[in-house]
Amino acid sequence: MELIKFNYKDTALLDEGEVAEAASSLSGYIGHLNEVTKAGGYDSREASLNLPFDEDTLAKVKTLASAKKIDKLKYIVVVGIGGSNLGAMAVYEALFGTLHTVLDGEAPKMLFLDTNNPKLLLDIKNTLSGVEDKEELLINVISKSGGTTETIVNFEALYAYLKENIKGIEDRVVVTTDIGSKLYHKAEEVGFDILEVPKNVGGRFSVFSAVGLFPLALAGVNVEALVLGARKERDACLSEDLEKNPALASAVLIHLHHKHGISIQNSFFFHSQLETVGKWYRQLVGESLGKQHNKQGNEVRVGITPITSVGSTDLHSMAQLFLGGPKDKFTTFISAKTVEDKVLVPNKLVFDGLVDDISGKSFSDVMGAIYEGVKKAYEHNKIPYAEAVLPDLHETSLGQFLQFKMIEMMFLGELLNVNAFDQPNVEDYKKETKKLLSV
Ligand code: PA5
Repeated sequence: MELIKFNYKDTALLDEGEVAEAASSLSGYIGHLNEVTKAGGYDSREASLNLPFDEDTLAKVKTLASAKKIDKLKYIVVVGIGGSNLGAMAVYEALFGTLHTVLDGEAPKMLFLDTNNPKLLLDIKNTLSGVEDKEELLINVISKSGGTTETIVNFEALYAYLKENIKGIEDRVVVTTDIGSKLYHKAEEVGFDILEVPKNVGGRFSVFSAVGLFPLALAGVNVEALVLGARKERDACLSEDLEKNPALASAVLIHLHHKHGISIQNSFFFHSQLETVGKWYRQLVGESLGKQHNKQGNEVRVGITPITSVGSTDLHSMAQLFLGGPKDKFTTFISAKTVEDKVLVPNKLVFDGLVDDISGKSFSDVMGAIYEGVKKAYEHNKIPYAEAVLPDLHETSLGQFLQFKMIEMMFLGELLNVNAFDQPNVEDYKKETKKLLSV
């Protein structure tokens, strides 16, 4: 299987000795991660590493998905937020495109109900208003903690509407949550189907658990290929060889740039259907590395600010800043080596003479020229960058990319000396919200 290529040698603008030294400082931690994978199971805080190898979860997900996915299935509504929906949303959009929900005759549409926005809820209700047969619909409520305000508010409002309009809708609700959460017990009482999230797997690391795999399997995604990609990438990313390990190289580059004062990490995707992968990654970086305290409990207020850019769209809004503004960003360009492209600019043009040298060219030719042009402009301006090249944009490559980034984050937690797996300050505002709602 072809793996992700990670190129940075002449473009990251760092001293090779410094890179090698930082990489070797992770040697002990790589040893620990290898122990975690050897032991298997979910006892350690890096337990998400073992998700792609969990045959039991895969079998449960597939069995429930085939029981629920009858030919009639038209809509999957994912009710969840943050780590509970971004992974599925990222993979869904990467595979089906951003306009899938408005295309006729395609695989079931996934609708995402995350924040408490009355307009969003109303639009989803309107979309579902034509549904008469319960089998056209499946609601997957996903909350690891089981107590996230937005998720429960959204579910209650949607379910009350559906219960009035669709007979037997209770058979079409699947709850994904921690075993033993309050939601778990309530769902048991009501008789909803339940899928479990392993305790030590946090939301942002849960895409290869039932959280991501179940809704994706329902939508027709080849989840076996997705986890196969993750398995292969895990092997590569647990190697001590910097040349063969993109997660190690990428983590070291981000860390060293941060150390030299460059603390904005720009993930620049050159396929617009990957924009939500960028949002998924933003959460991973933001919550894993943005910490008030280090591992010893000292106040450090450390963090890397992730931003997501889409090529070529954002070149028309942000390139001026990136190329001419402060040199405070380290960019990783993300693209795929092979994409299906049968779209050509016609030989005979309506606006002949407006843009030279485009007739007969494919869209990939045009985007390829833009991409190479951007890299050259970065080089002229001495702006540091790396590039991750996926083999293609299918399930296996996406699984590889997601796994690569999750392991990169574990390395960054070590390098920045913070716990990459908790989110104490997120809990702060959740508690305050609940207090305010109680008055
Ligand atoms: O990564 C995290 O822990 C958070 O972003 C959560 O995913 C998010 O707050 C949703 O939480 P829950 O899945 O408990 O509803």
